[in-house]
Amino acid sequence: MHLPDYKEARTRDRRDYHRVDFSFDSEIKNKYAGKTFYLKTYGCQMNEHDSETITALLISLGFSAVLDYHDADLILLNTCSIRENAHNKAFGMLGRIKHLKQQKPDLLVGICGCMAQEASVVDDILKNYRWVNFVFGTHNMYQLPNIIDKAIEEQKQQIEVFSREGDLVEGLPVVRTNSYKAYVNIIYGCDKFCTYCIVPYTRGRERSRAKEDILKEIDELIQDGYQEVTLLGQNVNAYGKDLYSDYTLANLLEEIAKKGLPRIRFMTSHPWDFTDQMIEVIAKYDNIMPSIHLPVQSGSSKILKLMGRRYTREEYLKLFHKIKDTIPKVSVSTDIIVGFPGESEEDFQETLSLVHECQYDNAYTFIFSKREGTPACKLKDFVSEEEKEERLHRLNEVVNYYFLENNKRLEGTVLPVLVEGFSSKKEDMYFGYSDTNKLINFTANSKIQVGEIVPVKITSAKTWSLDGELVE
Ligand code: SAH
Ligand code: SF4
Ligand code: F3S
Repeated sequence: MHLPDYKEARTRDRRDYHRVDFSFDSEIKNKYAGKTFYLKTYGCQMNEHDSETITALLISLGFSAVLDYHDADLILLNTCSIRENAHNKAFGMLGRIKHLKQQKPDLLVGICGCMAQEASVVDDILKNYRWVNFVFGTHNMYQLPNIIDKAIEEQKQQIEVFSREGDLVEGLPVVRTNSYKAYVNIIYGCDKFCTYCIVPYTRGRERSRAKEDILKEIDELIQDGYQEVTLLGQNVNAYGKDLYSDYTLANLLEEIAKKGLPRIRFMTSHPWDFTDQMIEVIAKYDNIMPSIHLPVQSGSSKILKLMGRRYTREEYLKLFHKIKDTIPKVSVSTDIIVGFPGESEEDFQETLSLVHECQYDNAYTFIFSKREGTPACKLKDFVSEEEKEERLHRLNEVVNYYFLENNKRLEGTVLPVLVEGFSSKKEDMYFGYSDTNKLINFTANSKIQVGEIVPVKITSAKTWSLDGELVE
């Protein structure tokens, strides 16, 4: 049994980690044929992609997926710790599963993902959720087959959480959700330690994958007909720094772009390492999508400093305008936190004025949530809950205004759209995303295929989507 430990999770040193190839214990391959699983994923794209590997590992054990958790022999929650409500959702689900387990005592229940890396969560599970069969951390994902096998064979709770990242495991299997767009990890972990954020503790230090491994994966995806790849990392701009002296994200992007893959995206970018070379490469290649997620968090330099973001309002704005001026038709989205400890009305006004200046195409807005073990958790909280709610509401009104304004400017234009399927709202409409990452619902008289990139003329703009018709 390995338990999480925050002190260890915080350490960053030059200790070498090794690239190792994954191997599946052949003795347990298909051992659980006939059994079913239900996997619920919370959180970010990183977790979604991890779930594609978890699914593949479970299938190798012989399990098959079901869509209703009531029908499953194994329920696994791939959790997120980023804000309190992510926690509450997972624990709410555990509450429902508890009832089911009373009726089905053989039901296997497991917890993995970022919450599994939190000492307080594992403590709680050890004390109050003895019926949970196993817990494994983000650094232990490759051990899943053996952990599950042990949980079944030994009939006792298994907890395997390494607080520090181990080796970088290559060759893990993956069952992709999609046949036309794919996630590819390029860097794991985060060393930024923004004072509010739990991720550097749950995901470990920054570790880049070797460029050869990434390029090989991209080649395979191109061969399989994939149209779009999203390069993933908590901070993709740091790519290569731990491995190479002169190979960065700009080099990697360029090398991938030259392979001719139709669409390349990447996320997330911290403004800190966003270099001029990156901006030039994005501007130069048509297949690197002109869509950048550039989280600002706050418009006040005072709050940015307290957040440990390493840039001032002015530095952010300079970068923002450089991106806007250099990359044709680029859309920029952001993340903003309101109610950070010490945020005054003036600080909040600075956030609003920054939004007026940047006129974002999209923005994810959050109320500050205290995460145990992070430095901001200890800061004195001056802002009342009511005030935080009110600020979020005021902020949302402004960001929404610009989403619609930006979308209206697109009326009458033709955008390339990667078709994803039929719209959930209107059955006779297709939906997909433009190069600038806008959600487009559109009609078509001729038959089109999911995974095709088609031209769509925009007929009307909404706040969060655009309507259009296929150019036939
Ligand atoms: N690595 C990404 C962010 C991942 S978390 C980046 O830095 O760009 C996604 C977003 O969640 C963050 O950008 C931030 O806006 C928000 N977030 C993170 N921790 C939070 C907290 N404790 N309370 C509220 N929002 C938080
Ligand atoms: Fe969290 Fe900051 Fe790292 Fe993003 S860059 S994951 S906000 S610590
Ligand atoms: Fe959540 Fe972990 Fe992602 S905390 S946002 S699932 S890295």
